[in-house]
Amino acid sequence: MTEAEETLRAVRIGGVDTLVIAGKQGPKVFTLQGAEHAYRVLIESMNEGALTLTADETILYANQCFARMVKCPLEQVIGSSFRRFLSATDRATLRSLLKRPDKSGSKIQILLNVDGGSQMPAQISIRPLARNGINRATISMVVTDMTEARYNEEMLRTLTHRVVQAQEVERGRVALELHDTITQPLCAILLRCQALEDKLSANAGPAKGEAMKLCEMLGQTAKEVERISRDLRPSVLEHLGLIEVLRGTGTEFAKRTGIFLKLACVELTTRLPEDIELALYRILQEALKNVQKHAHARHVTVQLTKPGDIVQLVIKDDGIGFNPDHHSTRRKGKDGLGLLGMRERAIYMGGALKIKSARRTGTEIEIRLPLPPDAIRR
Ligand SMILES: Nc1ncnc2c1ncn2[C@@H]1O[C@H](COP(=O)(O)OP(=O)(O)OP(=O)(O)O)[C@@H](O)[C@H]1O
Ligand SMILES: [Mg+2]
Repeated sequence: MTEAEETLRAVRIGGVDTLVIAGKQGPKVFTLQGAEHAYRVLIESMNEGALTLTADETILYANQCFARMVKCPLEQVIGSSFRRFLSATDRATLRSLLKRPDKSGSKIQILLNVDGGSQMPAQISIRPLARNGINRATISMVVTDMTEARYNEEMLRTLTHRVVQAQEVERGRVALELHDTITQPLCAILLRCQALEDKLSANAGPAKGEAMKLCEMLGQTAKEVERISRDLRPSVLEHLGLIEVLRGTGTEFAKRTGIFLKLACVELTTRLPEDIELALYRILQEALKNVQKHAHARHVTVQLTKPGDIVQLVIKDDGIGFNPDHHSTRRKGKDGLGLLGMRERAIYMGGALKIKSARRTGTEIEIRLPLPPDAIRR
């Protein structure tokens, strides 16, 4: 009896593929189906956890890799509930997913409870199995260890942030250089030109006309350099704060593009933290660039609110819209960097960016950043 139980257990955990049973007509060889054997070898050599579950999430089969992931002997994994490896939130997510299984499969990110109390970031790919009446397994699952992927993501995010910081410093330097070496001399030349124009009498004819034209061109060039310098690093942001900069940017955008821009800002009694102001300003710049470049919009609304412990910026246009899912799944290297940069800025600040867009309806970009405790009280 003990031997039989041992054998059954071995079959269950995949330790045995062939049974030899002594019968009256000599030994009889029972092999697990050939195809199953090949699949089992394949599954056991995988670097991912593989499981089959019943509808109530009891583990019918798990490979050794999954047992190693959760640091638990395979015989204690098989027959137990998959729920024991999940947090309460992940249990609920999985439950609702299993209630409405997607035939083509679905993937979720979870934190796997590992024996000993630690947690491991994992991705589970779930696929419903066809019921054949004998097999009780209804769900197949592949569990991928995401520890390294998460670490790499974190490294990449830190690196991106450092690049952004270096870019900000460089932008500030270029803005200052432009101001000192271009804008200021341009203004001096403009003044001299105006003095020359004044000195030329009205009957100087074409010379007077040329001088006037020169003054006009110099004035326009000075304004353009000033705009570039402001875009690079608006001194207004440092001195007067985000609201003033949003106003200035909105007015300048509407004038330059002919797109009507409506700005609705919450009253702020004091300044927001410097890094939050800069992040929101850069995101707005990028979003407006996209409106001008892609949207074919007639109206844009920019809304800044402070609901509770967050600050929220929404940029909405009534343009042609696009498919954000398509954009996020496009091949690397072929994408633009605008949306990615906006999202990264928001994530780095502990916040999030949401895109709602549909063809011919327009696009809405929503950024929510958490405020530090002292900024909430203000
Ligand atoms: N407001 C918008 N209206 C319509 N389409 C948009 C809008 N914003 C973005 N898109 C679409 O999303 C794509 C990705 O935008 P993203 O800003 O990331 O890149 P890009 O503008 O093409 O290039 P880059 O910003 O690097 O100069 C755009 O090519 C465009 O198709
Ligand atoms: Mg862009």
